[in-house]
Amino acid sequence: MAFPGVTVIVGAASGIGRATAQLFVKRGCTKIVIGDVSTKGLSETKQQLLQVNPKAEVVDESCDVTSEDSVNHFFGQVNSNFGRIDHACNVAGVLMPGTSPEFSAKDFDTQFNINARGMWLCQRAELIQLLKQEPIYPSGSPSPIRGTIANVASMASLRVYDNLPSYCSSKFAILGFTKADAMRYGREHIRINAVCPGVIKTPLLGEVRDDDTTNIAEMTKEMALGRQGRPEEVAEGLYWLSSPQSSFVTGISLPVNGGKSLKRVFKGAD
Ligand SMILES: NC(=O)c1ccc[n+]([C@@H]2O[C@H](COP(=O)([O-])OP(=O)(O)OC[C@H]3O[C@@H](n4cnc5c(N)ncnc54)[C@H](O)[C@@H]3O)[C@@H](O)[C@H]2O)c1
Repeated sequence: MAFPGVTVIVGAASGIGRATAQLFVKRGCTKIVIGDVSTKGLSETKQQLLQVNPKAEVVDESCDVTSEDSVNHFFGQVNSNFGRIDHACNVAGVLMPGTSPEFSAKDFDTQFNINARGMWLCQRAELIQLLKQEPIYPSGSPSPIRGTIANVASMASLRVYDNLPSYCSSKFAILGFTKADAMRYGREHIRINAVCPGVIKTPLLGEVRDDDTTNIAEMTKEMALGRQGRPEEVAEGLYWLSSPQSSFVTGISLPVNGGKSLKRVFKGAD
């Protein structure tokens, strides 16, 4: 199987970003740039990608999304290596719980700067590059393609959790710039979407066992499928939103959450 073009994944040193990079290479992507603030994790991901396909061109480059200079430098490296972007996945994020009275403004800024502002800085850099590129006209495609962007938001973008006001606000913000830019740039043949994962077993949640009786277990019980998701299952959503198979889809927030909101919808609680 071949997956066309150049893929960029920011937040690829761990969890969902790493699984997404692996899936793209497994599905035939041979040109990929991976970025993260954790350079150690990034080089582990690179080794794993080269095990999947030793001939893949894999560029690992440090990227701290809290720094405008770092983001711009990272995308400069993307350009000097490959000269274009076909698919971008913005994944980097942190989870800092805490109710508002106990949460410091400094922590609010840290979380917002990574999850929302940082992701927007990446999306802006990607759009600037995509708009410079001529669209391609694949045979059989109903419309030209200039590129895709897929952002990782959260179930906390669609509903609130009373111990996560800062996280929720950073994740709600992602849907704002995802949808606004999707509306503006659809006619330029750029599709921009988001996935909204539920509880996914990654280092972000710590080493929590499936049967643990913490808040995570409570959240998992709300899911129709009754289990935590795997990063590979979120990667499938990002891959689909990047692929020609989703050619008529833009501006959506795709829940990948094991049916987490069903109970509430049927009870009419939302
Ligand atoms: N795990 C879940 O249950 C879950 C649920 C909903 C949404 N999400 C979202 O999925 C995304 C990925 O999280 P994950 O679960 O894979 O966690 P993870 O901790 O495994 O991965 C997060 C990655 O982001 C990177 N990162 C953190 N700060 C950064 C910065 N300043 N610049 C660049 N990279 C930075 C980390 O180094 C790490 O590699 C996050 O945006 C998270 O909010 C996760």
